[in-house]
Amino acid sequence: MKNLRYIALFTITLLLTGFSTLLPAQNYPFELSRLPYAYTALEPVIDAQTMEIHYSKHHATYVKNLNLAVKGTEYEKYTLEELLLYAGETGDAVRNSAGGHYNHSLYWNTLSLNNPFDALSDVGKAVIATFGSADSLKKLLTKAGATRFGSGWAWLYVTTDKKLAVCSSPNQDNPIMDVSPERGIPILAIDVWEHAYYLKYQNKRGDYLSAIVNTINWAAVNKNYTDALANPLLKDIEKDTWTGLNEFHEVMSQTFHPSQDGDLNPIRERSGELLARAKDLQSGKIPASFNTAEIKNSIASLVKEAGVLNQLVIKKADDKTITKKLGELHEIFHSIK
Ligand SMILES: [Fe+2]
Repeated sequence: MKNLRYIALFTITLLLTGFSTLLPAQNYPFELSRLPYAYTALEPVIDAQTMEIHYSKHHATYVKNLNLAVKGTEYEKYTLEELLLYAGETGDAVRNSAGGHYNHSLYWNTLSLNNPFDALSDVGKAVIATFGSADSLKKLLTKAGATRFGSGWAWLYVTTDKKLAVCSSPNQDNPIMDVSPERGIPILAIDVWEHAYYLKYQNKRGDYLSAIVNTINWAAVNKNYTDALANPLLKDIEKDTWTGLNEFHEVMSQTFHPSQDGDLNPIRERSGELLARAKDLQSGKIPASFNTAEIKNSIASLVKEAGVLNQLVIKKADDKTITKKLGELHEIFHSIK
């Protein structure tokens, strides 16, 4: 009996460890995530040859190219999630390779012939509450994959307000990326690149999609769901979608940084614009996680001090006074940011 308990504990530990190591949360140098099953494991839905080429050639190449793209750059310090979050600034090589690595890791993680939809699991309840039924969700995923022109992905993801949603993305993009119109953390990935299905299904993407939506590892998706809800990345994405803050940041950055190098022209020309952006930030929508009395007080201070700075500029105050006030404003901004 005691031995049985140990075996059960070992199996549970192995399963949990297995799931957690599949989703890559590493830094440079990145490594190819372990494939959690044999190349034959998903037959007849996905044939062994497709699996082998897909994993050992396509996915492996994304990891290799990611390391080459990141090597020797400031991005060596970024986690994979951060590389995705800032995809708009990292350049196409990092964007495509980081996406390719993350997306394929999630894809392997969310496929199985033996883990059917469980209506009583956390994600099962959320799917039914959001989409009505598992079949309705499968139809949405199939449609998202079928209507994605060219290469890309279909996703079930957790939005910044912790709801479930379906979308698709082109190339190797995903909803974590700042370049994506839909934002959140993906918990189920469906690869709709031809390399995922062409050997068996040729041009019939619809047949592949009909089969793959019934080959989902719902135990893994359930874990991805609860992990996503607790992941601080969700709050980072939420902050990233705060338009008012981003627009204020843009003017702040373009005026404060030159002032640090002794160039006061940008702030003397744009102090009125900075005040206007502060007022927009105050009157605009604040994301739920940031809608606190403390943040609102900081934004009120930002508006007040931006007004004082603007008056100093209008009255042609000296450089030292302007620099000091702009520095104070920058401090208040960073207490919010
Ligand atoms: Fe792929």
